[in-house]
Amino acid sequence: MDSFGRVDIVATVSLEADARTELDELVRVHRLRAPRIVDGRPGPAVVLDGAEVVNLASNDYLSLSGDARLVRAAQASLEADGVGAGASRLITGTHRQHVALEAALGDWLGRPARLFNTGYAANVGVLTALADARDVIFSDELNHASLIDGCRLSRARVVVIPHADGGALEAALRAHPAARRRLVVTESLFSMDGDIVDVAAIHAICARHDAALILDEAHAIGARGTEGRGVAADAGVVPDVVIGTFGKALGSFGAFAASGPAITELLYNRARMFVFSTALPPSTAAASTAAIAIVRGRDGDDRRRALAANARQLREAIPTLGGARDGAIAPLHVGNDMAVMALSERLLARGVFAQGIRPPTVPDGTARLRISVSSGHEPAQLQRALATLRELVP
Ligand SMILES: Cc1ncc(COP(=O)(O)O)c(C=O)c1O
Repeated sequence: MDSFGRVDIVATVSLEADARTELDELVRVHRLRAPRIVDGRPGPAVVLDGAEVVNLASNDYLSLSGDARLVRAAQASLEADGVGAGASRLITGTHRQHVALEAALGDWLGRPARLFNTGYAANVGVLTALADARDVIFSDELNHASLIDGCRLSRARVVVIPHADGGALEAALRAHPAARRRLVVTESLFSMDGDIVDVAAIHAICARHDAALILDEAHAIGARGTEGRGVAADAGVVPDVVIGTFGKALGSFGAFAASGPAITELLYNRARMFVFSTALPPSTAAASTAAIAIVRGRDGDDRRRALAANARQLREAIPTLGGARDGAIAPLHVGNDMAVMALSERLLARGVFAQGIRPPTVPDGTARLRISVSSGHEPAQLQRALATLRELVP
């Protein structure tokens, strides 16, 4: 005790030392992650740690992230509107560029849509705004971390459904009839498996059981369907909420939730990720508006066709690749964490970048190489990547 009567506090835990111990454990189990450094515009080829490689590790499915029209739109807005939005949308951060982007989304998707800063924020924001302890969420076992976190934060009861199993979903809905709301939550095109679920069938199950459908189209929006409107629109289905991102096929950044007008307005009032976070930079919104115009037009059709052709070529060359036949995401199942990272390293040394994906991103024992193609991969780039893959893949 000192002369002021204060008790000496003896630090029993050093957070820094604890963090080191945790990192050492990640190294031991081959799960430490460290990013590589990209120089310049990441496209079908990318300069990674100083060397140019074929890029099979991006979600820039329509090769729009470096497109001159997006760059020009962002540049013009940067000049006119400055860098930051300055506040959350509800304080002073609603800029005319946000309003223009929401109008473009509404016109494209045929119903209101609200912006979020990321797909992660959109998923957590939507689920926490629409569900609480009185509700039950039926969540596909392979759903993205942001959906899982949204389920947890909502405090709803969560029933995990075997992947894309309509029978199991229906049985679970029957087993949990009593709740204020019942929400079925799934991706349409799964991010790490590349498969596409039967959205029409899931929607029909929801309708039979009076449950709402929340659909994450992060990997489908822009890349699939008429005008790139995604899997549900193509199936003629209107889920209660569709979440899409601008950071993948649209080549920009940010996200949206499209829904009926009342849900849209409620999200503005209840989604804490929206209410309590600085708005997207206006220039980013301007780039996304330019991306929507491209994705809806003939250029968008051409890019989707090129993407599908590249995806088919990939699977013809390596038939063991998973995912939808014409889909951009083609996982190669390896199983072992160390083996998948070693394979990724060997490919990189030969100029081909495909990311190894380990738990907790995917379930234990299902580590995989996640290969993704884009519309912009040239035949020579694909040929080179395929030859290397065929040589090195076990
Ligand atoms: C299925 C799915 N939903 C949501 C997200 C998050 O989107 P964003 O990158 O815009 O935060 C991702 C991205 O990795 C995803 O794969």
